[in-house]
Amino acid sequence: MSERTLIVVKPDGVQRGLAGEIISRFERKGFKLAGSKFMRVSEELARKHYQVHEGKYFYDRLVRYICSGPVLAMVWEAEGIIAMSRKMMGATFGYDAEPGTIRGDYSCSKGNNLVHGSDSVESAEFEIGLWFDEGELVSWEPAN
Ligand code: CMP
Repeated sequence: MSERTLIVVKPDGVQRGLAGEIISRFERKGFKLAGSKFMRVSEELARKHYQVHEGKYFYDRLVRYICSGPVLAMVWEAEGIIAMSRKMMGATFGYDAEPGTIRGDYSCSKGNNLVHGSDSVESAEFEIGLWFDEGELVSWEPAN
């Protein structure tokens, strides 16, 4: 069954000009784009998005970072996309991520890991609802 996931090109990904590369990898994999917006993240959105990390030592830094510059937020759709997109992004920290993955190829940092992807069906539903209104998402099928 088709799943949707939230993918966010973080401020470092935008500033390093890697948004196109990240989109391209997902497009070439065959994932279907259902929505996108280039935006600044409010502190309120950031705090809700990262609420599972509230209380951890890096929480405030995470919130500050995601708000520090514009991001490209997207919803992508495909069967099994949540697990597959996380494989394609690679391990959380750039210095741990395998070559061939997005973080493995383009990041050797801990916090500046270029891209966010939902980690479960439940978090995808929660995050998509937080970042997008239903009217901003497009359902479509290829012509043939
Ligand atoms: P992401 O998976 O997008 O969402 C949670 C983020 O928290 C993760 O990316 C990292 O950027 C960050 N993160 C997770 N664990 C740590 C940690 N131990 N120290 C610093 N940042 C972390």
